Amino acid sequence: MLIKKAKYLTSSPSFETCPNPDRPEIAFIGRSNVGKSSLINMLSNNSRLAKTSATPGKTQLINHFEVLSGSPEVSWYLVDLPGYGFARVSQRDRRRWEQMIEGYLRKRSNLSMVFLLIDSRLQPQKIDLEFVNKLGRWQTPFALVFTKTDKNKVAHTEKNVNQFLHALKESWEAPPNFFLSSATTREGRDDILRYINQILISGG
Ligand code: GTP
Ligand code: MG
Repeated sequence: MLIKKAKYLTSSPSFETCPNPDRPEIAFIGRSNVGKSSLINMLSNNSRLAKTSATPGKTQLINHFEVLSGSPEVSWYLVDLPGYGFARVSQRDRRRWEQMIEGYLRKRSNLSMVFLLIDSRLQPQKIDLEFVNKLGRWQTPFALVFTKTDKNKVAHTEKNVNQFLHALKESWEAPPNFFLSSATTREGRDDILRYINQILISGG
């Protein structure tokens, strides 16, 4: 799939103020600093589309981007969500964040798919496994993306991915769809774009 145009539209503090849900929407979520904004830039071939930062907590609102892809030509929304698990925030801010994300993921009517990003360098983290289970409870369709594969040896990535999928077996019958990615080597780009295209052409 080719991304013909990708443009920042708006940032919203809650799902109620998001743009009209008049087209399919694909969102990216995961721990703070896992590489959401970098992946979005890699997919759209535009290093300046979503703001990235070495400091966790850069993305704080629900950020909508307008995308036009082909072929066939489809217009859709891509959403960069703030990261969870950022240690240096107050309880109050964390609660506000959780409510914003939960409201968005449960109530956004045009949400077709959520990519949950997992750092491929780490063994399964409780906070990520819990988030997968929340998505299950909320019946939010999702796929996993294991990021930053350029930072590991292949065997190390495989071990962490397998352990993560194994941990999910406790609460899930079938493993979720998953991808490996690197914003540096662009691994995963074609597969993820092909998957998004399938979702879009099947009517979101
Ligand atoms: P928040 O918005 O703060 O939640 O972070 P984020 O998940 O959007 O992460 P972001 O894309 O800003 O990336 C965080 C840091 O990781 C930056 O320093 C990126 O350059 C780096 N990074 C992201 N993806 C990759 C990758 O695939 N490989 C490598 N080596 N570094 C990456
Ligand atoms: Mg970000």
